[in-house]
Amino acid sequence: MAKILVTGGAGYIGSHTCVELLNAGHQVVVLDNLSNSSEESLNRVQALTGKTLDFIQGDIRRTEDLDQVFNTHQIDAVIHFAGLKAVGESQKIPLAYFDNNINGSIALIQAMQRAKVFNFIFSSSATVYGESNPSPYQEKMPLGMPNNNYGYTKLVIEQMLEKIAIADPQWSIALLRYFNPVGAHQSGRIGEDPQGIPNNLMPFVTQVAVGRRDKLSIFGCDYETQDGTCERDFIHVVDLAQAHLCALTNRLESKGCRAWNIGTGKPISVLEIKNTFEKVNQIAIPFEFAERRTGDLPSFYADSTRAQQELGWSAQYDLEDMLIDSWNWQKQNPKGYH
Ligand code: NAD
Ligand code: UD1
Repeated sequence: MAKILVTGGAGYIGSHTCVELLNAGHQVVVLDNLSNSSEESLNRVQALTGKTLDFIQGDIRRTEDLDQVFNTHQIDAVIHFAGLKAVGESQKIPLAYFDNNINGSIALIQAMQRAKVFNFIFSSSATVYGESNPSPYQEKMPLGMPNNNYGYTKLVIEQMLEKIAIADPQWSIALLRYFNPVGAHQSGRIGEDPQGIPNNLMPFVTQVAVGRRDKLSIFGCDYETQDGTCERDFIHVVDLAQAHLCALTNRLESKGCRAWNIGTGKPISVLEIKNTFEKVNQIAIPFEFAERRTGDLPSFYADSTRAQQELGWSAQYDLEDMLIDSWNWQKQNPKGYH
């Protein structure tokens, strides 16, 4: 069993990954500045698992915070979720994104080097494939330039990590390229809790269902897809959390830098999300078709063969599970953690 530092562990994907790590018998240390989360998620992680974790409220950009963690704990590996993730906001305040995501990652990697910890799992995104690759995306495809500053930070960090692993063979780095995470822990105790008006589809749908928003706007109905709405590869957050455990096992045994797509490989349309949500949860989602959203690609989904073959990972939950669990979380927590 290993001791894992989880940066951003109080957030949506981080909290679900903490549950899986604790259930698998690992020790967990969370470093999070709570800029987009609440400590309540970690209280619930501990209640759900019946196990404790160490929480340090701190910032990955602060050397003192990082050194405190590495000097106090014998860390075996780092899973790095901490960062800013709102695409629209990244266009308005690019420097905040470069600072948090890129400078933050550099500070973290330097602290790891000082502490001689070389196992690293990075939260990347399908956005690194850019705009011109055809779906399904394969890891061997050349990466493209993301059309927003958030995506750009993921590309830069991936490229930095590859170069670091080439320069120093002690490093063992996983780049996990997430597709579209949705869903929540089956208990409904932890889930996604966006601040303000949600940018992403799933939290918007559940907030309409719970009465916090009037109706869903579906951005674009004239794409060249099966029903005219965009298609994405939605993946249950618990499957995604499990992928981190598989990557951890792999990285503790190998060296170098390697990328894996984490998706189901099945394109699902926005309209299908709305219709299936209504069917499985027996609740109406008022909606309208609206203009296309700038920057959206018509369709993207993963080829996850590499994760299957090399990590022994594949998605276990289907679309209905994702939508039932998303709603279960939202209806039990109409105002999120607050
Ligand atoms: P989230 O915002 O819920 O979690 C991120 C956590 O990091 C938050 O708890 C926040 O408080 C913390 N944080 C931010 N800046 C920090 C800093 N400087 N120091 C310490 N803590 C800091 O987001 P999430 O959805 O759980 O995403 C986790 C990671 O996965 C992010 O890196 C994100 O870019 C990446 N990712 C997310 C998605 C998605 O759709 N959710 C898709 C692809 C990749
Ligand atoms: C977005 C980001 C991506 C990031 C990911 C996770 C863009 C262009 N891409 O992916 O870089 O990694 O979030 O944070 O922003 N939709 C609606 N109505 C809504 C909300 C969304 O119709 O109210 C549609 C969108 O047009 C899109 C689909 O739902 O077709 C999924 O949108 P979203 O959940 O924002 O994810 P992505 O755009 O795929």
